[in-house]
Amino acid sequence: MDWGMKNRFARVVKPEDGRAVMLAVDHGYFLGPTSGLEEPRKTIEPLLPYADSIMLTRGVLRTSVDPNSHTPVVLRVSGGTSILKELSNEDITVSIEDAVRLNVSAMALSIFVGSEFEKQTLVSLAKLVDEGEKCGIPVLAVTAVGKEMARDARYLSLSCRIAAELGAHLVKTYYCEGFEEVVESCPIPVIIAGGKKTPELEALQLAFNAVRTGAVGVDMGRNIFQSDSPVGMIRGVRAIVHEKASVDEAYKIYESAKGGKARRAAG
Ligand code: 5RP
Repeated sequence: MDWGMKNRFARVVKPEDGRAVMLAVDHGYFLGPTSGLEEPRKTIEPLLPYADSIMLTRGVLRTSVDPNSHTPVVLRVSGGTSILKELSNEDITVSIEDAVRLNVSAMALSIFVGSEFEKQTLVSLAKLVDEGEKCGIPVLAVTAVGKEMARDARYLSLSCRIAAELGAHLVKTYYCEGFEEVVESCPIPVIIAGGKKTPELEALQLAFNAVRTGAVGVDMGRNIFQSDSPVGMIRGVRAIVHEKASVDEAYKIYESAKGGKARRAAG
């Protein structure tokens, strides 16, 4: 990696401990107005101080994030489909010039291994890596899962390894049984998505299990912004990822932030 690439990567995966808390708010690119993100600015603003980086589309970045913000940006640059159609039919949707203009720290693109448009998404990843290398911008590959795909260690290892082989600098996948296998066979750092909203304790346990078994962190969305205390959740997740907190300790952080919110509302 050259200096620019290393510098940008260090904004996403913190060199102090090699860990990352990425806040995912890019869901609208194929889901439209996702629950909790109807008014992106309102959701994003209170969470920014706790996120190492934020993953989002250029539309939400331009309309809903203060350009004076210091939180590094991971720009979603793939899309072109919606929940109503075949999800794997994605292409690159942002030029490298615009990514540079937006001063992003990384670019994110989904690959759909085993899906109808597998080849298209894998070739897009390779092209994006070429563009990123020219400008010193790292690429996050998102191992999106088609409707029929099992989220098991065999499949996720396949997807993560292919992402690494094609030159991605970081890969996002799902936590699964035997997650160590996924991490061990992937020569680039791995972060996990949070997935559908679950009870807060379960989401914190997921983050804990993932970092315990080798993930460098999380790229979590719904389990943060759909929580009854989004700030409490991101603080709890941060404590697990960066401060070696236990699940119980993280849950207490979440509960006390939630209690504080309830007390402020009553007072
Ligand atoms: C969608 C994405 C999302 O950013 C990703 O799934 C993370 O969000 P969540 O924690 O809500 O699953 O990349 O393709």
